Amino acid sequence: MLARRGGVNSESFYISLPSVFAVNICVIGCGAIGTTIARAVEPMPEINIVYLTDRSKECATRLQEKMTKVRYVPDIVPILNDIKLVVEAASQDAARYYVPLALSAGVDVLIMSVGIFQDEEFQKDAFRLAKRKSAKIYMPSGAIGGIDALGAASLEQIDEVTLTTTKPPSAFGPNPYLESKGIVASELRERTELFYGTAREAVKHFPQNINVAATISLAGIGFEKTRIRIMCDPQVQTNEHHLKAKGKFGELDVVTRNVPSPRNPKTSYLAALSAISAIKKITGTTWVGV
Ligand SMILES: NC(=O)c1ccc[n+]([C@@H]2O[C@H](COP(=O)([O-])OP(=O)(O)OC[C@H]3O[C@@H](n4cnc5c(N)ncnc54)[C@H](O)[C@@H]3O)[C@@H](O)[C@H]2O)c1
Repeated sequence: MLARRGGVNSESFYISLPSVFAVNICVIGCGAIGTTIARAVEPMPEINIVYLTDRSKECATRLQEKMTKVRYVPDIVPILNDIKLVVEAASQDAARYYVPLALSAGVDVLIMSVGIFQDEEFQKDAFRLAKRKSAKIYMPSGAIGGIDALGAASLEQIDEVTLTTTKPPSAFGPNPYLESKGIVASELRERTELFYGTAREAVKHFPQNINVAATISLAGIGFEKTRIRIMCDPQVQTNEHHLKAKGKFGELDVVTRNVPSPRNPKTSYLAALSAISAIKKITGTTWVGV
């Protein structure tokens, strides 16, 4: 917002003030997604202050030094009354702690670690709490296209939803499930199936790789009926998600080939962009594809 400083109608006589309509938000996590969000909201007039917390104080304060709107906070409890939205961009552990904390204070949450909702108890409690406190839980489409169509299609009968995700070996870090199968992703020389089963099992075994399985389950036919195949392919450079659905609406067949984030190869750049797009919708006035 611009305020008049003097009587001359020239831009140089205006000073910048925070807009009365602008809001404060809090981002949990200053990794690949959190950093991209902090940079993107810098020029957004809808956002005043971005409070930022991370279990690594060093990472958060480094980002604060580079950004004008970012304020590091070691604890979000004192600022809960001052914010409109908590953006979780950290981990399932962080979601488990911060989501109920924010909802209890009536603050809306945007969750990137959507896989946390494969825990039925947590899901029920969080959804109930949101209702009781009139707060909202937002789950961005993340690294996959087609969530909007799947959500609309799910209002009628859906017969099947399958997702085939293909990632390069660098996307798979140490993983107890793979170890139990004797698979070392970095040693694979050809396209190999790592997992086939329900979305619930997929999210349990690959908590950092397959949040989109949770998102399509929640948009479509649930964690038990949604089938997931996870492939590792040393020849690919992208994180590919191939979503197929069939039902009364017709057929959906969507392929998303994602560029991995340079900061974290497990995370697709599109996931960070989807969070920013969601923040713009939540704090803005126009919503295309609602
Ligand atoms: N929904 C999607 O489509 C999608 C896509 C990609 C990633 N993700 C998820 O989003 C989350 C963030 O991804 P990223 O690539 O930015 O991760 P990242 O590893 O690059 O960064 C995570 C940051 O969060 C911090 N952190 C982790 N746990 C914390 C806790 N309990 N308290 C405070 N800080 C904590 C870490 O120190 C780190 O700085 C992950 O859970 C990831 O699985 C979701």
